[in-house]
Amino acid sequence: MASSAASKPSVVDPTDLKSFQDHLKNSKRILALLGAGLSASSGLPTFRGAGGLWRTHDATELATPEAFARDPGLVWQFYNYRRHMALGAKPNPAHYALAALAKKRGDEFITLSQNVDGLSPRAGHPAETLKLLHGSLFDLKCSSFFCNHMERDNYTDPVCPALAIPTEPGTDNPIDTTAKRDLDISNISVPLPSIPASELPHCPTCQTGLIRPGVVWFGESLPGKVMDDVDAFFDSGEQVDLIMVIGTSSKVYPAAGYVDDARAMGARVAVVNMDRRDAPKSGMCEGDWMFEGDAAAILPELFREEIGELKEEDMKDLAGN
Ligand code: APR
Repeated sequence: MASSAASKPSVVDPTDLKSFQDHLKNSKRILALLGAGLSASSGLPTFRGAGGLWRTHDATELATPEAFARDPGLVWQFYNYRRHMALGAKPNPAHYALAALAKKRGDEFITLSQNVDGLSPRAGHPAETLKLLHGSLFDLKCSSFFCNHMERDNYTDPVCPALAIPTEPGTDNPIDTTAKRDLDISNISVPLPSIPASELPHCPTCQTGLIRPGVVWFGESLPGKVMDDVDAFFDSGEQVDLIMVIGTSSKVYPAAGYVDDARAMGARVAVVNMDRRDAPKSGMCEGDWMFEGDAAAILPELFREEIGELKEEDMKDLAGN
């Protein structure tokens, strides 16, 4: 990494920055809890607040087994759209800063991500210490209770022909006049056909079940292996020094509960959020930090002493290209 000389104007209070950096330097066991706000500056919408509606649907209402059973075509339109958006998005400096810190700190820093968009893995975040609590948009599994079919890292876009996002002729590309532009199907004014189950992908193993996205829906358990790894970190009995709560409204459990678990093991809490009202439910304590603003601007600054100044070439190296 390049030298740690600070060249950009600070986006955080210098006293808070110094006390956080001092604590980070002396912290051994660290957690980060990530939410959709981490990817907001990559252009991906969050779930709650502005951008939380998909057409007329509350995004969280489409994320249930019941919604899939009722209208799998609609739920797939929503998830195929999210896959498409995530594939078109790029990791931002916050993803890279976390990846760089994770590489440096190894096993003693684990990252619990609620994000399914694939941007942390694409930023080179080491897989061993990145725990995807809510699965991945790019995993596909069979929806049948009797079938264990699971396919990892499927990036086919659209996931099947019937789910192709409608386009209109593009006018902003002077070189390729045949270019097409995606229509924004998150907007209810864009008509969308209803898709029968027969046109959706079916399981290649059992031949009968519908394929569904490999994400955790409301009412479902978190992936067993991920839970075991997180439990092992907490059950080691050793003190936890710091938990960073980044870009999450801290409203969904069990993820939000990890803040209290870490605090109970001695951790100080650092919140990074655009909205200071989205502190963890148990509130802020003396010695905690609230860094209000865009995670993409704040994280590189918080970690600068450890990872140096994040340069374009560092981010390319992390991403492996
Ligand atoms: N930088 C930092 N924080 C931001 C930014 C940003 N650029 N933009 C938005 N935020 C904050 C918002 O203020 C909000 O607190 O990110 C948070 C996003 O909250 P939610 O939309 O509730 O997302 P998240 O906490 O990840 O949701 C948890 O709920 O619907 C389920 O499974 C889904 O994983 C998701 C879970």
